[in-house]
Amino acid sequence: MTCRRFSTPSPESLHRGSRRAILWRVEEYRLEPARPADAPRLAAMSQQFVEAGLKPAWGETRIGWHMRDADSVVLTARGIRAVAGFAIMRYADESAHLNLLAVAPEYRRQGIARALINWLEGTALTAGAFAIGLELRAGNAAARAFYASLGYRECGEVRGYYQGVESAIRLTRDVRASRETPGTREPSP
Ligand SMILES: CC(C)(COP(=O)(O)OP(=O)(O)OC[C@H]1O[C@@H](n2cnc3c(N)ncnc32)[C@H](O)[C@@H]1OP(=O)(O)O)[C@@H](O)C(=O)NCCC(=O)NCCS
Repeated sequence: MTCRRFSTPSPESLHRGSRRAILWRVEEYRLEPARPADAPRLAAMSQQFVEAGLKPAWGETRIGWHMRDADSVVLTARGIRAVAGFAIMRYADESAHLNLLAVAPEYRRQGIARALINWLEGTALTAGAFAIGLELRAGNAAARAFYASLGYRECGEVRGYYQGVESAIRLTRDVRASRETPGTREPSP
């Protein structure tokens, strides 16, 4: 799946474009399964953006295991220069669990995480899994806002879940709920 991403113009381009139409830089990214060679970058992204301040639990070996696991999908949003974001989901009979999700800071607020989750939800539905569950760090306000925007519901708190350092919020979403409701929007131009 290929998605077009329209980045915001730099201050320089705004200046140059003051008397003419602003040229918007267009980049593309593709949603595709991770490649074995991606494991170091995905582990680094996890450590930096998801597990900051914790003992890393998602190293290259564990991520590589999920790439080979028949019940898991490691999905990347691959830009021209690098992997912009990724997500790991594991599927069971009637449910699926989102293990990891991260988008590099320079690619955020452009719909990449939404596109990753939409793809994984669609796959879950096709596979007969109806409920998606996940945990996230209680202090991660941005991610809580992100999941709320996609229709995820907070359904519990687990104290000290993250190595005794931080509590987890559990979230869930029934993907049988209309796919026309939150989270279905394509990246906007
Ligand atoms: C949370 C995260 C994955 C969101 O990625 P993203 O690609 O920027 O998200 P999207 O662009 O798809 O955002 C979709 C919607 O979610 C909401 N949202 C996303 N980031 C938000 C933020 N920082 N504050 C408030 N709302 C936010 C918005 O409603 C947004 O739509 P809009 O941009 O049209 O307003 C990203 O910030 C990230 O990688 N954070 C660090 C790792 C992490 O927290 N992972 C999740 C827990 S495992």
